[in-house]
Amino acid sequence: MIILIGGEKGGTGKTTLATNLAALRALAGRDVLLVDTDVQGSASYWAQSRDEDEIQPRVACIQKFGTGLQNEVQDLARRYEDVIIDAGGRDSIELRAGLVVAEKAYVPIQASQFDIWTLGRMDDLVASAQGFNPGLKAWVVIGRASTNPSVTETAETREILADFQHLNLAEAVIRDRIAYRKAARDGRGVTEMKPTDAKASNEMHALYEEVFGDVEQVEKQTAGGER
Ligand SMILES: Nc1ncnc2c1ncn2[C@@H]1O[C@H](COP(=O)(O)OP(=O)(O)OP(=O)(O)O)[C@@H](O)[C@H]1O
Ligand SMILES: [Mg+2]
Repeated sequence: MIILIGGEKGGTGKTTLATNLAALRALAGRDVLLVDTDVQGSASYWAQSRDEDEIQPRVACIQKFGTGLQNEVQDLARRYEDVIIDAGGRDSIELRAGLVVAEKAYVPIQASQFDIWTLGRMDDLVASAQGFNPGLKAWVVIGRASTNPSVTETAETREILADFQHLNLAEAVIRDRIAYRKAARDGRGVTEMKPTDAKASNEMHALYEEVFGDVEQVEKQTAGGER
């Protein structure tokens, strides 16, 4: 399955989601490839420091920019079970190419900072990608949300998203926690940190379930049917 993590706004947690999901997918025993389409190369640095520290399971990562991305990813998707694309924080060729090849797209937003203009543009980009890729589904993920329980970001975001036809809201909410920054620095997912931040680990597992849970369900049913 090809998953795109993207969005036009910078610093919303795209690379954090892409690397954490890739680490969890590798831990599930899947052959996963992380595709870093950002010239900043944060996902590649993450994978490199993981390699240097010999953290298992290994997460394969390549950097790829420009117009050839679409064909390259489609080709790689035949060789890897899952491809996770980290697309940089702007309306780039890579973001558009990713939307055309992905089955699922996740757009992290920082609820406290989001602007409706950005979501409107994302909604349009998803709509036009669906013209070529009718199977594409897109979700907004509240990332870096406040850990203060009195802040009602989910309800507010849901209300705003009601105006956009092509964007759904992910159930899982990722909160602003130091564990994410520590894990990023160490080439790990939050779930791999010792000691583990249970809250960070749980929310990332919840997102993982949303992203990949239905795939696992289908595979179990298929395996069951073959027996
Ligand atoms: N949930 C979180 N809690 C705490 N820190 C976070 C969280 N998500 C991201 N960060 C930190 O915020 C910074 C930006 O995150 P990240 O690199 O994932 O964003 P990005 O959307 O990929 O940015 P860019 O647009 O530059 O590619 C990083 O230092 C990261 O460690
Ligand atoms: Mg990034």
